[in-house]
Parts: sequence; structure tokens; C-alpha cells
Amino acid sequence: NNSEAEKMIKVHELLKKMYHHLLLNTKEGQNALNYLLHRGFTKELIDQFEIGYALDSWDFSLKYLLKKGFELPLLEKTGLIIRSESNGSFFDRFRNRIMFPVKDAQGRTVAFSGRSLGNKQPKYLNSPETKIFNKGRILYNFHQARPFIRRKQEAVLFEGFADVISSVHAGIEHSVATMGTALTEEQVKLLARSGGTVVICYDSDSAGIEAAFRASKLLVEAGCNVRIAKMPEGLDPDDYIRTYGKEKFKNDVIGASLSLMAFKMEYFRKGKNLQDEGDRARYIQEVLNELSSLPSGIEQELYITQLSEEFSVLKETLMAELRNINKRKR
Ligand code: CTP
Ligand code: MN
Ligand code: MN
Ligand code: MN
Ligand code: MN
Repeated sequence: NNSEAEKMIKVHELLKKMYHHLLLNTKEGQNALNYLLHRGFTKELIDQFEIGYALDSWDFSLKYLLKKGFELPLLEKTGLIIRSESNGSFFDRFRNRIMFPVKDAQGRTVAFSGRSLGNKQPKYLNSPETKIFNKGRILYNFHQARPFIRRKQEAVLFEGFADVISSVHAGIEHSVATMGTALTEEQVKLLARSGGTVVICYDSDSAGIEAAFRASKLLVEAGCNVRIAKMPEGLDPDDYIRTYGKEKFKNDVIGASLSLMAFKMEYFRKGKNLQDEGDRARYIQEVLNELSSLPSGIEQELYITQLSEEFSVLKETLMAELRNINKRKR
């Protein structure tokens, strides 16, 4: 029922404040705070994103929440407290981790993700799916980003927490992230409803590029205009900002994002020798294939003109081939 969900949110809100306090004001939180500051998270960012620290304890949160008057069955439902299968005792899910509150579109804390301090696995530990938390329905930072997305008619989509936080720090306030998983239809709806353009800014490794193509397909189907921001391989957006600075990120990454079509054309060129007739024909074929799924005839025509000029192929020939592709598709 409703009041149970409300209580679960209350639990999250209380713990969020407690974790934040432990990070900033206690000896036990010093290590975690140093780690964050060392990584370039400022005090302001830590406040803005309400980052916290869960103590290295099996029952600190448990005791705290019991003292606040919550009952064990409810605490278990939040996923923050776990009941041991072997002996039935209760313990904290998050221990010795940097805590990122995960908020719903209304800004209510409905889950946490806890990052380990060293190289301990898993790097991020997430709340389980609960009555109030469905990972596929939430975009990290959507609640804060939404007014900026509306105003700019644009959102920038990242893979992770640190990417969003660094990007906001760089002045790109319309930044959101999926939490490491593939973009879902529900998340696409959130983006499509509040803005026209989505700039995808994933890692530039092959996994990131493939994920960007999958995400862009869904976004285009939902009517979004998709652009792709490129990163040098081996860096994620957060690494990039810390290495090259805010201005370079704004100008050379976000500002230099490519339309989806231009990005794909660049991608198809990779590994081909366009002096070679065979490679050239394959390239043109791949581009035409892509063009055939563009909704706008005007855009198709623009790219056809470009291809025709670049490769000295008659526009009529390219048009005819495009019609052939369309026929085959039907
Ligand atoms: N993620 C997760 N569980 C993991 C690893 C990753 O939920 N075990 C999610 C997190 O939301 C993370 C995102 O996937 O932010 C991207 O993963 P990754 O690039 O590995 O982490 P970073 O965000 O780069 O984290 P950091 O910079 O702290 O290493
Ligand atoms: Mn604070
Ligand atoms: Mn990656
Ligand atoms: Mn990353
Ligand atoms: Mn990172």
C-alpha cells in the first residue's frame, strides 16, 4: 500500500542524510572523503549530489533505523537491510562504501549505489529492485537536470555517476545517466517527453559504441534527434574532464558532437581504404543502407549530394540504389 512506499522513502531520506553526515563530519568518513576530494569531487558537488559514506559496520544502519522506530519487515523490503538465509539475523547491505543516492523524477531518494573505496568488487553495489525502485525507469540526475533539459530542448546521456557529476561540474547541467545498463523504453520516454535532442556521451570503447547505436535506435524511434559525442579511446567522460579540463570537454566533446548519420559515416570509414574501389563501393552501400531508414527525404537528398560529390557517382545512380534498398526492405 501507499503508506508502505512512503515509509520506505522516509527510510532512504533518513539514511541519505546520515551517510552524508558520516562522510563530511566523522573520523570514520575521512578516508572516503579524501578519496573523493582526491578524485576531484569538490565539497559543493558532494553537497549537491548528497554523496555519503556507509560505515564499515555490519549493523550501523540497522541499529540507526530501528532506533528511528522502523520495523524489521519494512527495513527488509527496502533492500537496505538483508536477512541472512543461514541464521535469520539482519545486517546492512552497504558497508564501507561511498554512497550515491538515486532519486526518482520527483527527487525522492528511492535507492542507493555504493562505490567501493579501493578495487574491491563489485565496484558499485546497487539497491535491489523494490516497490519504490525500478532501475530501468530511472535516469540518474533526471530530477535536477529536467528544467535544463526543457530549456535547452536537449539532454546529454552518460553511462555512469561520475560522468554526470563531472559534467555538471563543467557547467553541463542537463546531464543524466543510465546506471551502467542498456537504455530502456521507459528511460527513452522520459527523454523524449522533455526535450528534442539527446547527445549520447558513452565510453568510446567497442562496448560503448555498440550501446550508443542501440540507444540511438530507440531514441530515433521515439522521435528524438540523436547526436554522438566522441571521446578518445580509453577515457570515460569523467576521466576526460579531469585530464583535459572543463572547457575542452564543452568545446571539443559536447560542442563537437556529430549527428548520428555523420557519426555512422565516420564509423563505416574505419578500417577501409577509400582509394580502393571495392572498399569504396562497400562504404557507399553501407551509407545508402543507413540513409534508407532516415525519415526525412530532404536529409536523404543532402547526404546523396555529398556522396555524389565525394565519390563522383551520379546522384541518379545513388537514388536508384536507394530505391532498390527500400524495395528489398518491404
Ligand atoms: N555500474 C554498476 N555496477 C558495477 C559497475 C558499474 O551499477 N559493478 C554502473 C554504475 O552506475 C557506473 C556505470 O555502470 O557509474 C558505469 O560503469 P563504469 O564505467 O565501470 O564506472 P564509472 O562510472 O566510470 O566509475 P568510476 O569512475 O568510479 O570508476
Ligand atoms: Mn551537505
Ligand atoms: Mn566502458
Ligand atoms: Mn566509466
Ligand atoms: Mn569513471
